[in-house]
Amino acid sequence: MCGISGVAGLTDVSHILLASIKSLEYRGYDSCGMAILAQRRIEIRKDVGTVDEVIQRQRLYEVHGLLGIAHTRWATHGGVTSVNAHPHRSSDGAFAVVHNGIISNYRQLRGELEELGYVFSSETDSEVIPHLLHFYYRREQDVERALQCCLARLEGSYAFALLTTHEPERLYCAKLQSPLILGIGSNQNFIGSDFNAFIAYTRSAVVLDDHEYAVLTNDSYRIINALTSLPIRKNLMHIAWDPEQAQKGGYPHYMLKEVFEQPQTVSKVLAIERGELEKLARSLFDAGRAYFIGAGTTYYAALFGQYQLAELAQLFVPAISSDEFKFGALVDAETLVVAISQSGETYDTLEALRFAREHGAHTAAIVNVQGSSMTRLVDQVIMQGSGPEICVVSTKSALAQMLILTRLALVAGLLRGTLSAVQYDEREAELRLLPAVIQRILNEKSGFINTIARRHCHVNDWLYLGRGIYYAVAMESALKMKEVAYLHAEGMPGGFLKHGTLALIGEGVNTIVFTPPRAQRELHDLSLGSTEEVKARGGYLIGIHFDAEPSLYQDQVQLPEMPAILGPFAQLVVGQLLAYFAATALKRNVDKPRSLAKSVTVA
Ligand code: BG6
Repeated sequence: MCGISGVAGLTDVSHILLASIKSLEYRGYDSCGMAILAQRRIEIRKDVGTVDEVIQRQRLYEVHGLLGIAHTRWATHGGVTSVNAHPHRSSDGAFAVVHNGIISNYRQLRGELEELGYVFSSETDSEVIPHLLHFYYRREQDVERALQCCLARLEGSYAFALLTTHEPERLYCAKLQSPLILGIGSNQNFIGSDFNAFIAYTRSAVVLDDHEYAVLTNDSYRIINALTSLPIRKNLMHIAWDPEQAQKGGYPHYMLKEVFEQPQTVSKVLAIERGELEKLARSLFDAGRAYFIGAGTTYYAALFGQYQLAELAQLFVPAISSDEFKFGALVDAETLVVAISQSGETYDTLEALRFAREHGAHTAAIVNVQGSSMTRLVDQVIMQGSGPEICVVSTKSALAQMLILTRLALVAGLLRGTLSAVQYDEREAELRLLPAVIQRILNEKSGFINTIARRHCHVNDWLYLGRGIYYAVAMESALKMKEVAYLHAEGMPGGFLKHGTLALIGEGVNTIVFTPPRAQRELHDLSLGSTEEVKARGGYLIGIHFDAEPSLYQDQVQLPEMPAILGPFAQLVVGQLLAYFAATALKRNVDKPRSLAKSVTVA
């Protein structure tokens, strides 16, 4: 997905626009650009590279004006080239557009326009928008009517902003499926893909819904329903996030900051009202069947939840990856779908929820971003309160989601009687130890983990083994290593190893075993069994465990004794740090790994 922003001000907006698009860079960063309108002329500067690189190379700071739009791109249609970078303009230079989403009928529209003599310069789907606007403006001689005609032709997903020389004091924007928010300031108004675009300037926001467009000046805004052309009044939302939280705060990378924020993240989750969890638990009981869904890391959080509900509440709530949901799930009016999403904007998860609702299902979501599409789509929302997660790869947010699912399982167990009140209280008391446990690991084990990571970061192939809920931990930890260190890490259930993958064990392959505490005897001994299988074939073993005795492993991270319920969280933190330190040793772009984006809002 991409980041779009726009500003309409009373004074020069150039510096605000650059700061704004910089704060959206985690949404995509293979190219960027901006368009500023001054003296009835639109100047566009854009190029491949990160925002900082393009600002310097194209001297974006030299362009001044009272109205501007900007864009940072994660390529979907068309390669990473300066021509494909946004903004895109109409042939007469009267319209400039930045777009996030996919215009699914762009080939047909492009064909029609080329038939009419329009010449395209890029390979993107987005470029059809300015040419379509130009076509309809010539006929309508009115920008807003031209926009309405254009929206009536577009299919797929879009959040776009536009400037036009025909109305040099107005910004226009429109939304369908891709996120778009207005920031309402004093003598300046903003457009953004999310509120990181303008939170440094205003906390008053208006969230646009599908089939809405807006017209902004520096001191006014109108929202219109694109299907009826009727004006819409919307409440201003106050954004609770503190801009400071979205800064690096002295850490070398957001990822490290967010890993180290996890003790506080846990405290926020522990403060979630039990009533919210009870309501979701009862929805689970009332449902004929229920699913946890998520994408990427949040799928592994969903898998973690599946194990917790089975273990603590004896409820089977299968986890399905959002992108596979509609192909693999049975959905009807008796179904409950619980989505897990940091951004609340992931296309695959939104699509799965829409599919579920079309089939009469009830829906719920565990989400981090206030006012996101998912929070407005589902029947029940649990806000995880983790604060801004800027690093593209998810750490604190994932741990928070896993902890919420654990608390949900405890409440469900209590309500169903699979846990006594005493057992429930004991488990909740143990969860209250988690902030200190994580803090201790961060303080005492980071050095060990860094040493192991630096020692092995040259090894390209890794197996991550876990049993039971540690399987979910192994899968998420392996994803971290892939995402941020670009090393080929494959997670799997420990028992799976002997059915084929064992053939991979040999020189140049490291195996990490996530070993449960001895108190979980069966899981513990089975994990040692997997370890022995690898050792017998000369594989290199790294153990993450709680055992006191000398280990089977060539390398290990030995964790302090702790209640069993805390073990998976502790080992997840180790998996996060292992990936982080390997990535820094390999000099990767930790916060913005190649080819990734924080939330993929396209199919
Ligand atoms: C990916 C992100 O693009 O989307 C992951 O890189 C994230 O970190 C996944 O887990 C799902 O995003 P979200 O916002 O739905 O949790």
